[in-house]
Amino acid sequence: MPTKTVSKPAVKNDYPKISVPPPGPKAQKVIALDKEWTSPSYIKEYPFVMAGGHGAMAEDVDGNRYIDWMSGIAVSATGYNHPKVVAAVQEAAGKFLHICGTDFYYEGMAKLCERLAKSAPGPGKHRVFLTNSGTEAVEGAVKLARYHTKRAHIIAFDGAFHGRTYAAVTLTASKVKYKAGFGPLLPEVTHLPYNNPYRGVDGLAAAEHVFKTRVSPKDVAAVVMEPVQGEGGYVFPKPEFLKTWRRICDEHGIVLVFDEIQCGMGRTGKLWASDYFGVVPDVLLTAKGLGSGLPIGAIIAKESVMTWPQGSHGTTFGGNPVACAAALATLDLVEGELCANARAQGERLLSGLRRLQKKHHSIGDVRGAGLMIGVEFVKDPASKEPDPDLVAKLELTAFKKGLLLLSCGQSVVRVAPPLVLTEHDVDAGLAIIDECLTELGR
Ligand SMILES: Cc1ncc(COP(=O)(O)O)c(C=O)c1O
Repeated sequence: MPTKTVSKPAVKNDYPKISVPPPGPKAQKVIALDKEWTSPSYIKEYPFVMAGGHGAMAEDVDGNRYIDWMSGIAVSATGYNHPKVVAAVQEAAGKFLHICGTDFYYEGMAKLCERLAKSAPGPGKHRVFLTNSGTEAVEGAVKLARYHTKRAHIIAFDGAFHGRTYAAVTLTASKVKYKAGFGPLLPEVTHLPYNNPYRGVDGLAAAEHVFKTRVSPKDVAAVVMEPVQGEGGYVFPKPEFLKTWRRICDEHGIVLVFDEIQCGMGRTGKLWASDYFGVVPDVLLTAKGLGSGLPIGAIIAKESVMTWPQGSHGTTFGGNPVACAAALATLDLVEGELCANARAQGERLLSGLRRLQKKHHSIGDVRGAGLMIGVEFVKDPASKEPDPDLVAKLELTAFKKGLLLLSCGQSVVRVAPPLVLTEHDVDAGLAIIDECLTELGR
């Protein structure tokens, strides 16, 4: 299908281009310094050392140029240096760097909150609290739901990822390493199965069962869920799953919180995943792509739910003026043209990946919408046994050929490129995956 032209920096299609096998000498120097001084908890998926970027092209310190299909974990929505975002950041930085929006006023903060509130799905007025990160938005949402309902219990889902601070990591259930050794965690949290069509998990029976056996719905403050699971494996549930939880929350006065930190901001081809599924949450959380890489997140809540009083919640840096400027410029681009580009390039990517699935039987499932696509690798399509070793090898082989990938779930490649992706970025990336899988004999 024809794709819309995107107003973004003109990028010559002179990439991917690997001139020095990565990690090259300059990359090795940075990696050695990093290894000496940084916390051992960082993951460091593979030895990519960034020096610059342009659109969906990322360049390393040795001059190698890569196609980026992961955007720094679904963050660089507008690419690495979109001129409109850079100009907005420079203008704001030239005025003042900080004043603290919790205590004082500035136009950028008020404008961004208005913009986000008006973008929220569903009718009625919304209000917005700005944060520095996704996890801070999750912490705030849990506090807000408890405050508003005067209840304690929170329901979350198997496979969820919500962050690493205490409430968020308690709700997280994607990998045990995030929790191991960090207890005690938050009390009063119950995890239930998440709908997973490929793995045949329905999840709805558990919803009925939990209220009969384990938790009274009258004690539940919030149901916190990702409308599409990110870190858990780019799992797209059936819309009925989200709709059923909406109904259950309505029946029992429970606050429905959608964590759209990864799946929002245009990723599914709609501004919010809630719009994609047609389900309206009471509270919507965003971060990641919101600032195109500057640290900013938001709790967007129905006015009737955001009832906490003056002084009950705040933040020193959240909604920093430079980050607000980046977010306003990002919203202009995402709402203006990038959602459409995500839909068009997403269709091209999905059909290309499905073509590859026919050729390479290690690809068990290809699912997604817009530029949020999960490619699940299995040892055998009949048994659907996950193949994490293959995913690790694929990531590294693709990296060496000039394609940046990132895994999630047990053995899924999450395709989450910048929303400025071009046809060249799609086609050249597909060719590399094809080549890698052929080389790996899978
Ligand atoms: C769905 C979701 N929620 C919350 C978070 C936490 O965000 P942050 O890393 O900005 O704290 C993430 C991060 O990956 C996420 O994907």
